[in-house]
Amino acid sequence: MELEDIKNRALAEIESALDKSELDKSRVKYLGRKNGEITVLLKSLPDLPLEERRESGPLVQRLKKEIEEAIDFKEKELLSASDQEAIDLTLPGKKIKVGHLHPLTQTEDEVRRIFSSLNFSVIEGPEIEAEYYNFDALNIPENHPAREMWDTFWLKPTRNQRLTTDGGRKLLRTHTSPVQVRYMETHQPPFQIIVPGRVFRYEATDASHEINFYQVEGLMVGKDVSLANFKFIIEEFLKKFFAGKKIEFRYRPSYFPFVEPGLEVDIRLTAGGRQATCLRQGYGKAKQGTRSKGKWLELMGAGMVHPRVFEAAHYNPRDLQGFAFGLGLDRLAMIKYNIPDIRMFYSGDLRFIEQF
Ligand code: DAH
Repeated sequence: MELEDIKNRALAEIESALDKSELDKSRVKYLGRKNGEITVLLKSLPDLPLEERRESGPLVQRLKKEIEEAIDFKEKELLSASDQEAIDLTLPGKKIKVGHLHPLTQTEDEVRRIFSSLNFSVIEGPEIEAEYYNFDALNIPENHPAREMWDTFWLKPTRNQRLTTDGGRKLLRTHTSPVQVRYMETHQPPFQIIVPGRVFRYEATDASHEINFYQVEGLMVGKDVSLANFKFIIEEFLKKFFAGKKIEFRYRPSYFPFVEPGLEVDIRLTAGGRQATCLRQGYGKAKQGTRSKGKWLELMGAGMVHPRVFEAAHYNPRDLQGFAFGLGLDRLAMIKYNIPDIRMFYSGDLRFIEQF
């Protein structure tokens, strides 16, 4: 009877405890080492007659266990309730970092978009290229001094290659020009294409040289495509690319084995538009932007496709004319965003990348 009474009181008190200190009070009241009601009962057991002791001993023990379990249970309940209170539902959510495209990718996308709007198709070619396409087909035969214009990463032939009759050596393409011949071998003019892609040079690096970078090749072939067409297309492209800036153009004679005549295009940004912020975080004052404003900047090589290149593609050079150009995508991005050092693109430094 007494046990029943203790049990009812204890469980009711435990259940209604509002916090940990109330719960602790119940714990002391019933299980306290000195005067806890259960403890007292347990201590008095030895004084009871054997029969009674046999009977009530296990009952008291069981009740003790029941109370302990009820306290444990309640304790956990109180604990998780207080956890929930710690969440402030009025706090603004955590801002999730959204990735974005690399500045070079953004630049390439822009170039693709503009040339597509001028009715050019976008073509791609292999980065591992045959010596033939990278050099010979472009009128740069072996031992020709012009090969020195491109320091080349040659690939070791695989065992399989050595066994096949192919014979030609493989390399990492030094420019996107080989895709000109690849495309002409399988397509008939008239057409106009651009070829964006990664190229490789076996060179020492500095602020304007990297061992790999990006180019955009252009090729337009038809019955009477002329340099005037080239001038129109390239000026149209650059005006769109540097929207809002005033651009001057300069055409200088130059030499590339796969064009005749060959030329180089420079631009000068004179006025208008917003000047990109000059100081790029983390790179200090010494390395400010190329100060693209007011200086003549080399942008690309170009020219009229050499008859030898048409011959390599099995075209008849008497029937056709075309212009070709190769522009540096990195260079374009450096001018647009006023970036002083090409190596920043490939550094993986987030302080730099996150600014775009
Ligand atoms: N392939 C040349 C280079 O990497 C650039 C170039 C010059 C491409 C003249 C052309 C061209 O298509 O006509 O240096």
